[in-house]
Amino acid sequence: MKKIALLLLSTLITLWGVAQTSETRMNSFIDGLMKQMTLEEKLGQLNLITPGSGIPTGSVVSRDVEKKLREGKVGGMFGVIGYENIRKAQDIVMKESRLKIPLFFGSDVIHGYKTTFPIPLAMSCSWDTALIRRSAMMAANEASADGLNWTFSPMVDVARDPRWGRVAEGSGEDPFLGSQIATAMVKGYQGNSLAANNTLMACVKHFALYGAPEGGRDYNSVDMSRNRMYNEYLPPYKAAVDAGVASVMSSFNDIDGVPATGNRWLLTDLLRKQWRFNGFVVSDYTSLSEMINHGSGNLQEVSAQALNAGLDMDMVAEGLLNTLSQSLKEKKVTLAQIDAACRNILVAKYKLGLFDQPYKTMDAARAKATILSAENRAFAREVATQSFVLLKNNQQALPLAAKGSLALIGPLASDKSNMLGTWAVSGDPQLSIPVLEGMKQVAGTGVTIQYAKGANITDDPALAARANVFGMRAEIDARTPEVMLEEALQLARASDKVVVVVGEASEMSGEAASRADITLPASQQKLLKALYATGKPVVVVNMSGRPLVLTGLTEGAAAILQVWHPGIEAGYAIADVLFGKVNPSGKLTMSFPVAVGQIPVYYSQKNTGRPQSPDNKFSSKYLDIPNEPLFPFGYGLTYSTIEYGKPVLSGTTLTNKDSLTVKIRVTNAGKYDAREVVQCYVQDKVRSITPPAKELKAFQKVSLKAGETKEVVFTITERMLAFWNANLNYVSEPGEFNVMVGGNSRDVQAVGFTLKN
Ligand code: NOJ
Repeated sequence: MKKIALLLLSTLITLWGVAQTSETRMNSFIDGLMKQMTLEEKLGQLNLITPGSGIPTGSVVSRDVEKKLREGKVGGMFGVIGYENIRKAQDIVMKESRLKIPLFFGSDVIHGYKTTFPIPLAMSCSWDTALIRRSAMMAANEASADGLNWTFSPMVDVARDPRWGRVAEGSGEDPFLGSQIATAMVKGYQGNSLAANNTLMACVKHFALYGAPEGGRDYNSVDMSRNRMYNEYLPPYKAAVDAGVASVMSSFNDIDGVPATGNRWLLTDLLRKQWRFNGFVVSDYTSLSEMINHGSGNLQEVSAQALNAGLDMDMVAEGLLNTLSQSLKEKKVTLAQIDAACRNILVAKYKLGLFDQPYKTMDAARAKATILSAENRAFAREVATQSFVLLKNNQQALPLAAKGSLALIGPLASDKSNMLGTWAVSGDPQLSIPVLEGMKQVAGTGVTIQYAKGANITDDPALAARANVFGMRAEIDARTPEVMLEEALQLARASDKVVVVVGEASEMSGEAASRADITLPASQQKLLKALYATGKPVVVVNMSGRPLVLTGLTEGAAAILQVWHPGIEAGYAIADVLFGKVNPSGKLTMSFPVAVGQIPVYYSQKNTGRPQSPDNKFSSKYLDIPNEPLFPFGYGLTYSTIEYGKPVLSGTTLTNKDSLTVKIRVTNAGKYDAREVVQCYVQDKVRSITPPAKELKAFQKVSLKAGETKEVVFTITERMLAFWNANLNYVSEPGEFNVMVGGNSRDVQAVGFTLKN
């Protein structure tokens, strides 16, 4: 025993020694390099540019790119697609610049590279962190083979306002689930070593609070209490930092009146000092120069402010490059600050192994073998099936039997251009599988499937034009809406069943795609209602980048499957689930509101002093709609019936020296094998700052064969009950708690315990 301990100790000492020497080696290399660098070359490292061949997300793209590369005025690039182009850019630096400091290359690899996975919001509904981690690993594998070293992902902004289009890019409304997913993604992208050939540096964004813009309008102001920030919005960023994320992107919004990109409290006090982040901070696209619009000063002033705040790299605005030498002369910034930022960038390059191998990942053979491989596409299909959420299934309308006649109707039923969803910069919509094709393949010959479009995504040319900025997504048919509808109705009447695929075009969500009215466009509502009126069983497949308001459209449907934007294998994945090859198991990670007027609506809302009561006028409620959402957080059905036993606690008191377990028996009482996300919430009954009604603290996704029962066990510890108090200390407070277990945030069973000192 003693021998083993000694051996372990000496191994640890050796490992520590190795780490020390490699750290020392890195530092002396960088010291040596920085001694040779002019001020201009140092500022060049802080400059991130784009030639604009990706998707420019601002009005500016970089100019004189080659000249800047030659002059050492660029630290990294993004929006350069394909290893040939990346090689060309690296060549200029490696052959023609004075110090030959390699560039790194970034991109928005948000949900897969060329093998496009479902949008992140969809993937979060799988609640399967292993699957999500694997998707990030696969994305890194493909993207790195194509020469990339850096992805602007994960986006971990907690979001509770579905009007905001970027809810599509994140993991929904809950900080705990969001943190688990943030960790999985960082680990998936970065693997064990950034120097490896098949990993990417991750970049957690948008730091911070970008998911809470006023009115759900993108880029709008954010204002919230520290209390809410610490308890509800910051945890996923922190989780990414704890997972070792290499970079952080500052957000567009202001925080406490100071734009995030120039916010010293945020970028230095919180991020570096409290959280001990040691990577680099990059701005968002021109978020530095946008500080001028925020009212923070001119370009020179805001650039100095940003450097002082702790920004290391400037995306596109070129404020750091062009103004800091003047600010240095005027003593508005110090050389030590410029050196520190430059060092942070050089350290990242060193860790990526670029000084040894500037072309390390540009590998034509690997790109060919990896990108869009059969294995990757099969995985994309699997991930998509896991991300769908079954919202309704009347009398087992689903799964469909592969016989009889089926009318496949809807503007998204035979469409390729909207399957990938938003932020699929490197994906090719033409490679995606339309629903019609997938259904025909999967159903086989026993079923006749006929198609009619039935309606446009929207009949409104102005909305269509806005959805078509990156190519045709919402095409307005040459036929009149009446002709299209009539064709669809005739087909429906002549068929046994109807499957209708409705929803949003992919660019109706995502960046700069906020919607004030998040119902289905009028053209599609009309289609649905007319189909319901035929009396045929209608299965609704809803494809959207956000929770939609489906009020008034659910009653007539036999079943509703929420599929988000499912990625490259959309058609196959949807068919797999509709025909029962895969039993759906996704659960919502954002509440579906009854009406826009409820927003923000989220499961962890606090109790008010006047809880709603039908008989009491003076209680917290609406006169016209309920307080509760249409479908709550955590909700989702399977083709089976899942039954929960009573939760049983191992004891009634807990201290910080022990733990409690809560056990619950979960039974698959149906005839299909199923997976179920068992959710564990906690309610703190009394505390020094008002508690949320409940908070997710743990979950398990369990597989249950038809007829099988499993006992699911959660461990409750004192640390799980801690929160940030009024003084922003992380504490738990003794007293009464409820632990609540169930299959969604609404349908839970509670058992009580006491936390003692
Ligand atoms: C702006 C977006 O906010 C950010 O998420 C993205 O990474 C950058 N543009 C780069 O494309």
